[in-house]
Amino acid sequence: MSSAYQTDALIAEDIDAYLAAHQHKDMLRFITCGSVDDGKSTLIGRLLYDSKMIFEDQLAALESDSRKQGTQGQEIDFALLVDGLAAEREQGITIDVAYRFFNTEKRKFIVADCPGHEQYTRNMVTGASTADLAVILIDARKGVLAQTRRHSYLCHLLGIRQLVLAVNKMDLVGYDQTVFDGIVADYAQFAQSIGIERYTALPISGFKGDNITALSAKTPWFKGPTLIEHLETVEVDTETAQAEPFRLPVQWVNRPNLDFRGFSGLIASGSVQPGDAVRVLPSGKTSTIQRIVTLDGDLDAAVAGQSVTLTLADEVDCSRGDVLAAADAPPQVADQFEATLVWMDDAPLHVGRGYWLKLGTQTVSATVQQPKYVVNVNTLEHLAAKTLELNAIGVAELATDRPLVFEPYATSRTLGGFILVDKLTNRTVAAGMLKFSLRRAQNVHWQALDVSREAHAALKGQSPAVLWFTGLSGSGKSTIANLVEKKLHALGHHTFLLDGDNVRHGLNKDLGFTEADRIENIRRVGEVTKLMTDAGLIVLTAFISPFAAERDMVRSMLPGGEFIEVFVDTPLAVAEQRDVKGLYKKARSGKLQNFTGIDSPYEAPLSPDIRVDTTTESPEAAAERIVDYILGGRIDSWMPVI
Ligand code: ADX
Repeated sequence: MSSAYQTDALIAEDIDAYLAAHQHKDMLRFITCGSVDDGKSTLIGRLLYDSKMIFEDQLAALESDSRKQGTQGQEIDFALLVDGLAAEREQGITIDVAYRFFNTEKRKFIVADCPGHEQYTRNMVTGASTADLAVILIDARKGVLAQTRRHSYLCHLLGIRQLVLAVNKMDLVGYDQTVFDGIVADYAQFAQSIGIERYTALPISGFKGDNITALSAKTPWFKGPTLIEHLETVEVDTETAQAEPFRLPVQWVNRPNLDFRGFSGLIASGSVQPGDAVRVLPSGKTSTIQRIVTLDGDLDAAVAGQSVTLTLADEVDCSRGDVLAAADAPPQVADQFEATLVWMDDAPLHVGRGYWLKLGTQTVSATVQQPKYVVNVNTLEHLAAKTLELNAIGVAELATDRPLVFEPYATSRTLGGFILVDKLTNRTVAAGMLKFSLRRAQNVHWQALDVSREAHAALKGQSPAVLWFTGLSGSGKSTIANLVEKKLHALGHHTFLLDGDNVRHGLNKDLGFTEADRIENIRRVGEVTKLMTDAGLIVLTAFISPFAAERDMVRSMLPGGEFIEVFVDTPLAVAEQRDVKGLYKKARSGKLQNFTGIDSPYEAPLSPDIRVDTTTESPEAAAERIVDYILGGRIDSWMPVI
């Protein structure tokens, strides 16, 4: 009701804005789910064919083919089209989501044809994440299957608000109403169990064309709508979004000259007019809309689905990634969340590792905790899991390094949907949906303290720094770090050495040597290191720290230049030959698992600040060089001469 009211108000106030909105509403994006056996290709072919929506070149090809075969008529052309679609699938062409465009007089359509098998979950997620509607095909002879449940669950999870239950192949069950009613009753029970509120069930035959564009005489008990009618009239997401509060994620700031500063982006929800009070998030600063600028001139109003440039009455800070929102109904801001993740990469989730999280125009670094559970998509059971593998769907907590402007995915796909990107490979590894922010994030505030890190350092008369030693087990990290600390200490510096074997006896005694545990080991050591530098110390660490991502994470936690990476570059063969602790021998004989260099990887630094080749340089000489580096080159002028 409120949306109808708003639309009326919009027509009354600004016909141009209404028309612009109307233009956007003309497009329905939908997906079809089900396997080829359910008649998916046939149905899509039927939709394209019956509404004369196939492209002209496709039509021409079909016509010439049928002429070659000496036959004519609708059924033949239609069969060829369907064969074509099915052949594409067999050749693997539709393994990635295939999009088709067509239109009727009332609407334009984009249909994404998603492969049905479980191993294509990620493809389905891609297609579903932007769809307004999903057509879930059921073979009338088979009824509701595990696959029906999986697809419905995924569609619901990805926020598709409109589901069509297309009970297909009705011709093969004699158009029997009891079969149809039985399937719908089964589905109703399942739908309720997972919270699907709205769906429309239709008895159809894709092959015969029943109830696709016209009501079928074979199903007098079915009063409609037909599939096409339904697709033409169902409410699309942009219409729903127009009734929500105003949000515009800023894509870029337009500043052609000093007199003009405009904030450009796509309106995700609501409407906006000059004079509206807006809030810039995450900062929370408020201002008023001055102008709505487009290539075709200024507008009096704009609505969800339009790309615009807004100018504000005040000089408030606002940059790419910020969100402009209705001042009295802003979205939330938080840095810890519970989210559902769909894992899309061959490499599993590394718990605790930093990934880029991209949400709309915002990019932050995020770490994911061990999943609370993963969902078996066929039975919808919740199962325990240590990580997320390819195509897994799980729920986990995540933390970001900066506050995110967000809304729960159920409220806003734009401000609640995100992807995770591997920082080293740049691959998109997961799609995610924010559920809510953690209350602990809202209730824990940074406490401002009066004795600053500068004050701590000044009292010690030094600049804090971290000498981060990395290298294989037995490479000589502890030996050299120990010598360096002795020298610095003798020179009157305040130092502390954190050593892997020692820290693993206390703080980290709960951790082993799996990748996840090593990541957590380094995360904790990084946090301790940061606290120690805040206290003004020069910290030395001696951990294998085998992963570049975690070493980079610690570097990024510290002020620029404070993190000094020292690569103790001892070849595996040499470390193994020394085998001071006898661990290589154990690892080689299979008595010790996950040993670095043997059956667990070591990623050597590509450009360390200091590299030590222990085959040519003695520990003593290396220590001397490192002390020179930190005192001579780096530590600044207010270091007292001792
Ligand atoms: S790290 O990979 O998580 O950085 P860390 O430096 O804390 O490792 O601990 C490495 C030390 O643990 C090694 O020097 C060795 O003494 C001992 N160790 C025991 N098991 C293993 C293993 N599987 N791999 C590597 N080191 C091990």
